[in-house]
Amino acid sequence: MNIGIDAIAFTTSRYLMPLEELARRRQVDYQKYCIGLGQTEMAVFPPNEDIVTLGIAAAKRAIQFVSDKDSIDLVIFATESSFDVSKSAGIYVHHFLDLSSSCRVFDIKQACYSLTAALQMAKNHVQLYPKARALVIGSDIVHYELDSAAEPTQGGGAVAIVVSANPRIMRIEPFSGLYTTDVMDFWRPVKKDEALVDGKLSTYTYMKSLEICYEQYKQLSGLDSEDLSRVCFHTPFTKMARKANNLFFSEKNIDASLLYNTIIGNSCSASLYIALISLLDNTEEDLSEKRIGLFSYGSGSMAEFFSGTIVAGYRDMLTSDDNKKMLASREHVTWQQYRDFRANKQPVPADDFYTSGDIRLEQIEEDKRIYSIRS
Ligand code: COA
Repeated sequence: MNIGIDAIAFTTSRYLMPLEELARRRQVDYQKYCIGLGQTEMAVFPPNEDIVTLGIAAAKRAIQFVSDKDSIDLVIFATESSFDVSKSAGIYVHHFLDLSSSCRVFDIKQACYSLTAALQMAKNHVQLYPKARALVIGSDIVHYELDSAAEPTQGGGAVAIVVSANPRIMRIEPFSGLYTTDVMDFWRPVKKDEALVDGKLSTYTYMKSLEICYEQYKQLSGLDSEDLSRVCFHTPFTKMARKANNLFFSEKNIDASLLYNTIIGNSCSASLYIALISLLDNTEEDLSEKRIGLFSYGSGSMAEFFSGTIVAGYRDMLTSDDNKKMLASREHVTWQQYRDFRANKQPVPADDFYTSGDIRLEQIEEDKRIYSIRS
């Protein structure tokens, strides 16, 4: 049975900080950001947007392709930016999408890897229950310390994927190269809002993990670089993906897959799948029946290399024009707004800022988050 991605959509903030401005303020040569890291803009988030509002916006866009919402009996919300260590962010999504109450809903985490874990678990679920559909969501807002080396690699966004039998976008293949190792390259203790990172160790572990996962994938599948039409990478900054591609995949052309991440920044769990959407939206060649390699990495660390083939007719399932319009219509924030967004952890009067969709965080009362539909 073919199982895989039946619908996929993403969203990000309506606001961005140009890295040219960040470089000027931090007295760093802008070439370091745009050439050295491969980033030109980063998404920044107003106080009425969080992983839930982002996740709902992406999920609403994905489930417009589902004719029978009640067939969704599994929702997995993948994030490393959770604000609650007990209640699942997925419950809010389930509520605002008005999904069936006969549904299994929970969150998972493993840094930037978690959406891949959710996708593979959803695939196994559909294997057991072929009429079922699963909705998996990766939603993250990435904050590092202000004025740190990692600051220009912030960003954020959400991807929602509907997983089903006879998928209309990508059939996921059964071979996975996996690699887990205990390493402190990126972590966020519950008392902190900002992630702590050993950047050099994380880039080293990313590469080592890719080498091991890809080797195992080749052994299991009998496939090689020439069997892959394109490769998409977890993209904490686009130079990382370019280096990985050049080392292991004979410098395949990955430009199309990097367009969105270059101007969004690191969206952690969502970033590999934003690369996939960017590839599908921006590749003129018809990718039907082509095999795409996917490398997922989550610090700490867990990594996976797997592949999927693109289904004929996939273009009918894309929202490419909407995606491009959404990115082009984002507003630049001023330096003061950037700092205010980071300082202000409470929602402001709700209509001060746009959110990615029609849901906004209205207030936090006795530590309860209250969301509402923007009028
Ligand atoms: N013009 C062009 N390139 C320049 C430059 C300039 N003026 N100045 C520096 N560079 C290049 C460097 O040569 C380097 O490229 P290279 O790696 O190909 O040699 C790149 O810009 C980064 O410079 P470096 O001095 O290594 O950066 P840094 O110490 O400030 O930190 C990271 C870079 C990525 C480690 C840091 O941003 C970080 O910690 N990010 C978060 C961690 C992360 O995303 N990890 C990924 C795994 S999930």
